[in-house]
Amino acid sequence: MDSNELTTLQNFDLNSFISSQSLEEPSSTAQGTKGVSFQRWYNFKEAFSPKLVSDVVNSMDTRPRHILDPFGGSGTTAVTSQFLGARPTTIEVNPFLADLIESKLTQYSISNLRHDYAHICDVVREIHVDITTIYAGAPKTLFEPGNKDRWIFDRPVIERIAQYLEAINQLNENHKRLFKVVLGATLIGLSNVHIDGKGRRYRKGWENRRKDAMHVDDAFQSQFEIVFFDICKFPHRAEWDYELLRGDSRDRIAECNMTDLCLFSPPYPNSFDYTDIYNVELWALGYFRIGEDNRNLREATLRSHVSIVREQANAPESETLLKTLKDLNAVRSELWSKHIPEMVGSYFSDMARILAGSRACLSDEGEVVAIVGDSCYANVYIDVPRILSELAPRAGLIQVEKFEVRSMRSSAQQGRKKMLGEWLLKYKPVY
Ligand SMILES: C[S@@+](CC[C@H](N)C(=O)[O-])C[C@H]1O[C@@H](n2cnc3c(N)ncnc32)[C@H](O)[C@@H]1O
Repeated sequence: MDSNELTTLQNFDLNSFISSQSLEEPSSTAQGTKGVSFQRWYNFKEAFSPKLVSDVVNSMDTRPRHILDPFGGSGTTAVTSQFLGARPTTIEVNPFLADLIESKLTQYSISNLRHDYAHICDVVREIHVDITTIYAGAPKTLFEPGNKDRWIFDRPVIERIAQYLEAINQLNENHKRLFKVVLGATLIGLSNVHIDGKGRRYRKGWENRRKDAMHVDDAFQSQFEIVFFDICKFPHRAEWDYELLRGDSRDRIAECNMTDLCLFSPPYPNSFDYTDIYNVELWALGYFRIGEDNRNLREATLRSHVSIVREQANAPESETLLKTLKDLNAVRSELWSKHIPEMVGSYFSDMARILAGSRACLSDEGEVVAIVGDSCYANVYIDVPRILSELAPRAGLIQVEKFEVRSMRSSAQQGRKKMLGEWLLKYKPVY
């Protein structure tokens, strides 16, 4: 194949990937990306769409050669960068999500994948597992008989999951990662819980709807077919190289090479605890072995939630932030957690670090683009764009653009009354 033919194929795959999202769907957070290639490898509700990444890139004066996302999530920025021909670097603290990202960035041999899938299916039923040993450090509620008559997985289900894990562990690193992601994507559907805006809840009538090993086999096969289809459909990317940094972006951003675009969506200061939301996958797939692992991950995430009480940072200097903290302190007794004012101060201290870290690795013509969301507690509105615009100059950045990408309702705790905004903010370096 000559280079012109290759470029044509790469462009064809790029256009087909970007347009796999329906035009009616919003291009910001993934409110309807279940059918979108690669996004459907795992239902990550907070993802933004490939189109958003491509729109941001197309809006730049010069084409970026290198794109950084310090809050990788499901890998939308990194995967789209590869299709666009820019080398991605991404940072993600959650080890399951980091594997999800890397599985999407890796190039596979179709025949080897098919071979290993057949191998898993051949051996899985014969593998002996002792789930009480494998999950010795996990919460009792992980599987039957659970705790106080509640459990997340019926016993035959967790046994078959453990068998799949053992079979997957016999493969090479790339395939291990990919098949773990395939298995991970089936877990909530196989469990007795569902996830909503604020956490995990037991399904209504779960006690009467028992699942068995065959449900696991069917779900694993269906999910593999989806993943395999996407891999076969998109064999060409203009760039296959990538860098994935696993860990806390507040520290690891200092290791990043020069970048032309730093594009990210951090957790919002809305008390949504990512560690909690992905707990089922983290325990069932063996990323967590003991309770300490859970705590360590919570410690390493941005201070956007109050699930654990952490060391509080001094709030960075911003007039709006200081006023907001004063207002929050005044209504502390009405807040559902008394730690919220400190969380909000620490959140912006973390964000100030991310802005400074982004600036430090930004090329002269580079841009920082952040998708952020407002929050509201006891009618005290957290004006995230305004506070960030006041913090940016200290990081050597200036806000040059702000527009609303979507409105969202405030949380159930707020009575779902006030409409909150989700914003795209663009910064350029100041010299
Ligand atoms: C809103 S999601 C990003 C979604 C992403 N834009 C996408 O399209 O999939 C925020 C991500 O930041 C991650 N995160 C939170 N704190 C972090 C930290 N300190 N370092 C790195 N990643 C972090 C969370 O695990 C989560 O995956």
